[in-house]
Order: sequence, then C-alpha cells, then structure tokens
Amino acid sequence: MNYRHIYHAGNFADVAKHVGLLYCLQALKRKEAGFFALDSHAGRGFYDLQAPEAQKSGEADRGVQRLVAETLGNEFLRDYFSAIRARRGKRLPRYPGSPALIAQALRPQDRALFVELMPAEARAVEREIDSQGRIRTQIDDGYAALKAFLPPEERRGLVLIDPPYESLDELKMMLQAFGDAYRRWPSGIYLMWYPIRSASQRSAVHARFEALRIPKMLLADLAIHPDDAGLGLAGSGLMIVNPPYGADEFLRDAYGAIHEGIAAPGAGYVEVTRLTPERMAQ
Ligand SMILES: C[S@@+](CC[C@H](N)C(=O)[O-])C[C@H]1O[C@@H](n2cnc3c(N)ncnc32)[C@H](O)[C@@H]1O
Repeated sequence: MNYRHIYHAGNFADVAKHVGLLYCLQALKRKEAGFFALDSHAGRGFYDLQAPEAQKSGEADRGVQRLVAETLGNEFLRDYFSAIRARRGKRLPRYPGSPALIAQALRPQDRALFVELMPAEARAVEREIDSQGRIRTQIDDGYAALKAFLPPEERRGLVLIDPPYESLDELKMMLQAFGDAYRRWPSGIYLMWYPIRSASQRSAVHARFEALRIPKMLLADLAIHPDDAGLGLAGSGLMIVNPPYGADEFLRDAYGAIHEGIAAPGAGYVEVTRLTPERMAQ
C-alpha cells in the first residue's frame, strides 16, 4: 500500500468529511447516554502542514488554509473552525485527523476505537492522543473490525469508513462490509466517504449504494472542480446512513459555505439529498 494521508490532510475532501463527522458527534451528545465511535481507517492524530509531503502537494493550502482565510466568520462552519483551532489571520500549523476530532468530542461516558492498518500511523495516534481509558487504537484491517466490534454494547454511536481507494475493489469491499455491519446494527450512524472523479463515476457510486436497499441514506456531495475535467479529485462524497435530525439542512448550508469559499470560479456544485426514503417499499 502506497497511500499516505499526509499528502491530502486538510484538503477540501477532509474538510467536507470532518464537517459531517462533527455534526454527527454533536448530535449524539444531545442525549446523556454514552455512545461508541468506530473509525475503521483512522490515519493518525495530527498532520504537520509544514511537512515536505504536505507542502509538496499543496492540498491543504488550497483546502483548509484557504477556507480559514476566506470564511472564518461563517456561522455554519463555526464548530468546525473551533475544532481545528483556526484563528483569524493565522495559517494552521497542523491539521487534526478524524481520531483527534473524535477524541476531542468524547465525554466521560463515551468510547472510541481507532483502527489503522499501517503500524506507524497507528502508533502516531497512540502517541498523539490522550486516551484517558476511553479510547483504543488497534493495528488491523478496518473491515475486519466492523465485523468484530459491532454492534457496540452502548447500542448508539457512529462508524466512519474512510478508506484510501487505492484498490479498484475498494468500493465493493466497503459496501460489503457496511451491508454486513448494518444487518447486525441497523440503528448506528454510518458515514462513508467516496471520491468523485466524474459525473458518470459519481452516478455509478450512488447506484451501488441504492442497490443495497437500505433506508435513510443521505448523500452529501461537494465538488469544487468541474466534473470530467481530468483533475483527479473533482469532488468529495459522504453517504450518511441514519443521519441525525437536522443534518440535511445543516450540510446544505455548511457545504454551500465551503463551496463559496474555495471552489474554482463557476465550478463544482453542492448536492445534499436523500438517496433512499425513510422506509423501503417491500
Ligand atoms: C483517507 S485515510 C484516513 C483519514 C482519516 N479517516 C481522517 O479523516 O483524518 C485512509 C487510511 O486508511 C489506512 N488503511 C488502508 N487500508 C486499510 C485497511 N484495510 N484497514 C484499516 N486502515 C487502512 C491508510 O493507512 C490511511 O491512513
């Protein structure tokens, strides 16, 4: 595996994914009862945005750094900016990965498990995040962890599935693992990230999700480059199953703000819509 997230940390896809993740974490905290968060492809805790890899790709500069410079006061991004510690007029020295964002959101009654295949990344999570006994990090295959650790004893919580899409089979593996997990734990909140490269590939991804015939799927797509422009990643897709109340409206506004702040002029779009209904017809 060649994938290293340090090249991509803080790009617009990370921003979109983390805005959705934070909304779901906040929603779980509306109730006192503890929850469980499973991050199946965790990466590390924090990414140094001065590191040569991050500097070379420039993705954070065109993503989160630009967003902070353009839209710091935006009301829909307020919680996100506070979670990443953005300050007016200051470039971010480092960017939190999903484990850091989850760890920061946990209350004493909540629990998290971070699963990462690369030992160096997993060890970085252990080093960088103070677990306070509520967090475990495991070096393992994220899909195997979905099988092993769901449903959680809390019976409430979320699962983030954020694979690197290096393999052509990744979507298939993810949908299979998600389908199995959902059968065992149909009330969990699932957030699954997918890349958007072209209009036809995007429609094909939606169709594959739809074919699972699982209700309450919210799709949240944000593109900042023209589709089919051959730019690699045109957009970021997030499928949220069992989205918390208010997620549709919130993500429409928040993604609108991100698009306005960093999309190429006249390019891209925001689409936040239900892919499947509240109940599936028999
Ligand atoms: C897109 S990055 C994760 C980013 C992170 N979720 C975040 O939002 O900050 C994907 C991660 O998955 C890891 N990975 C790749 N294959 C894996 C597998 N089968 N199981 C668990 N982790 C895997 C990679 O090493 C990489 O760190």
